[in-house]
Amino acid sequence: MKRSAIAIICSLACALALAQPAGDKVAAGKAAFVEVVKVLQSPRCMNCHPAGDRPLVGDDSHNHPQNISRKSIAAGLPCSTCHQPHNADAIGVENGPPGAPNWNLPPAATPMVFQGKTPTQICQQMKDPAQNGGKNFAQLLEHVEKEGLVLWGWSPGKGRNPPPMSHDAFVAAFKTWVDANGACP
Ligand code: HEC
Ligand code: HEC
Repeated sequence: MKRSAIAIICSLACALALAQPAGDKVAAGKAAFVEVVKVLQSPRCMNCHPAGDRPLVGDDSHNHPQNISRKSIAAGLPCSTCHQPHNADAIGVENGPPGAPNWNLPPAATPMVFQGKTPTQICQQMKDPAQNGGKNFAQLLEHVEKEGLVLWGWSPGKGRNPPPMSHDAFVAAFKTWVDANGACP
């Protein structure tokens, strides 16, 4: 009787002691994802992660001119027809297409939409391997750390603003979210 009472008290106390730091980690992860979303929904990222089939252009995220969409890729006009592995202004072409290697939209089946979604919805989509191209947390972190299309956001060429925080701060926030096992706000 006495022993079991002690055991119950201990298990409660131990659970609380363990839950406290874990709870902090989860709270930090949720808060960090809200910061991550500010980058994802900035024009430099959202313009290639639209709700529809058309990429968006500019800080006001208007539809891409020339009726460009996933349909134009299917019709035989890949994005790389115009988008080079570097920004056009890097070779002196003013107002030309921006560029980075493998310029493209995410696949239609897994479009990874950032436009018009809440942080909770983006979080759930982001960590779902059926929606993120089969990536686990380590692969997602590597993607935001090293992928050329992501890095382009911070070197977008003349006339385009980078996302609202540094790439380092973005990766750190993303890692805080990963460390919380992808807890959603
Ligand atoms: C030129 C278009 C383009 C731009 C700009 C772009 N992305 Fe992407 N993004 C893609 C494509 C294409 C994929 C799919 C890559 C793959 O299948 O490996 C992708 C995938 C992702 C993924 C992994 C999930 C998935 O579905 O594969 C994340 C996270 C991501 N992008 C974040 C960003 C962030 C952050 C920015 C802005 C700093 C950004 N993207 C800018 C085209 C773009
Ligand atoms: C016929 C040439 C052409 C094709 C094909 C093309 N683009 Fe573009 N794209 C441009 C030009 C030119 C601009 C610059 C327009 C501007 O800044 O006003 C541009 C700008 C963009 C931007 C704006 C970047 C930003 O953040 O403001 C995105 C995103 C983009 N294109 C994505 C794509 C994707 C994805 C494809 C393939 C589905 C594609 N484009 C196909 C010519 C093209």
